[in-house]
Amino acid sequence: MKIAIGCDHAGFGIKNAVKAHVESKGYEVVDVGTYSADSCHYPVYANAVCEKILSGECALGILICGTGIGMSIAANKHKGIRAACCENTFSARMTRMHNDANVLCIGERVMGYGLACDMADLFVDTPFEGGRHQARVDDLNALDANK
Ligand code: RB5
Repeated sequence: MKIAIGCDHAGFGIKNAVKAHVESKGYEVVDVGTYSADSCHYPVYANAVCEKILSGECALGILICGTGIGMSIAANKHKGIRAACCENTFSARMTRMHNDANVLCIGERVMGYGLACDMADLFVDTPFEGGRHQARVDDLNALDANK
C-alpha cells in the first residue's frame, strides 16, 4: 500500500519524521513536498496529496501544516476525499474505523513528533469497520454532489 504525504513550511519537520517512520513500517511513501522550510501555500500540497489518492496511485494520505486545519479544509474540497484533522491517537484510529477517512491531517504546532508518528501508525494500520458505518459514509459521499 502506498501512502502520499505532503506539508507546508510549518509541517516540514513532522513530515520528515512521519515519512521515515511510515517507511520503517514497510509502506512505500510518495512525498509531494514541500521540500524545505521556506514559506509556501498549504493548499498546493493538499491538492497534490488528494490527486495521488483520487488517481488510485496511493490508498491513503497524510498532510501536515501548522494546525492541520488548513490542510483539512483544502483536502475536503475534493470529491472523494474524507480528511480528518486529528490531535490524538483515539481520533486517528476511529476516523479510519467509522469515517473511512482517506487523509489524516496533523498540526506540527499542536503536538510532538512521537504523537504524530503514533497517529500515523494507527491511521495506516486500521481498517474501515464497514457495517452500520457504510451507509453513513455513503451519506457523506453523496454530499460530494454539492461540490
Ligand atoms: C502557516 O503559518 C499556517 O497558517 C499553516 O501552516 C496552517 O496552520 C494553516 O491552517
